[in-house]
Amino acid sequence: MFRKVAFVNAKGGVGKSTLATLTSLSFASRFPDSSVALLDLDKQATSSKALRKFENSRLSVVGSHEFMLESGMPNNSYLASYMSDISSYVKVENSSLDNFLIVDSPAGADPKEYSFLRLCDFVFIPLSVSDADMDATRVFLSRLLQGMENFYLSARIVLIPNQIETREDFNEIRTTFTNAPILLGQPIWYSREIRRTFRPDFDDHTLISVLKMMQPYYDWMIDLILGKKALPTRNEKLFQI
Ligand SMILES: Nc1ncnc2c1ncn2[C@@H]1O[C@H](COP(=O)(O)OP(=O)(O)OP(=O)(O)O)[C@@H](O)[C@H]1O
Ligand SMILES: [Mg+2]
Repeated sequence: MFRKVAFVNAKGGVGKSTLATLTSLSFASRFPDSSVALLDLDKQATSSKALRKFENSRLSVVGSHEFMLESGMPNNSYLASYMSDISSYVKVENSSLDNFLIVDSPAGADPKEYSFLRLCDFVFIPLSVSDADMDATRVFLSRLLQGMENFYLSARIVLIPNQIETREDFNEIRTTFTNAPILLGQPIWYSREIRRTFRPDFDDHTLISVLKMMQPYYDWMIDLILGKKALPTRNEKLFQI
């Protein structure tokens, strides 16, 4: 079974690629018999470039312009067929285990054009507490929800407060989005080590220490993705998990 998650936000620089990269590595190291595939929809290829050197029989990196149209929008029908039949595209060692597809996406796309997200189990929207991130995310979210009636019943939408420095930062995001009928995830703290995720000399030592530091975060995320957390069937307001 493939668990599918995506990192999206029309706002650039919120951490989509950083988190897609670290999530892929974290899941690959935690589930040594499972397959993990990163699908990078961004032609900047930030996450796919970073992960290439770790590619092996269980960790695959898929970055292809076939998935995007000339207009810069996702090719939803192609993505839908790929995602529904993922096991025939990605090498899977054991299909009875939990396997993972992690989607990274580009900035600037119109969320109304993201219908492929319905096929994801979780849609993570990272943002920082900056005014620019919060304003842009508000617009993004309202277009995403408008474009997909009942969308959040099939895919779970989770705000991920990122680059958080104080509890007040987190509370500010919670207050700003209190009326959004989505989930509020655990915060990710601002970290100099996370900032180095894409250095070409990003060595295994730094990587191991980032993954170690983020272990409690990924404990939380894995429980969420594997359905071990009680979630509301339908929430009218922001629901903190
Ligand atoms: N928790 C964090 N702490 C410190 N720096 C971070 C954190 N998360 C992300 N960053 C840094 O923020 C910058 C933007 O991150 P990233 O490239 O992942 O964003 P993005 O949303 O993928 O951007 P784009 O939309 O341009 O693809 C990077 O320099 C990254 O190292
Ligand atoms: Mg990116």
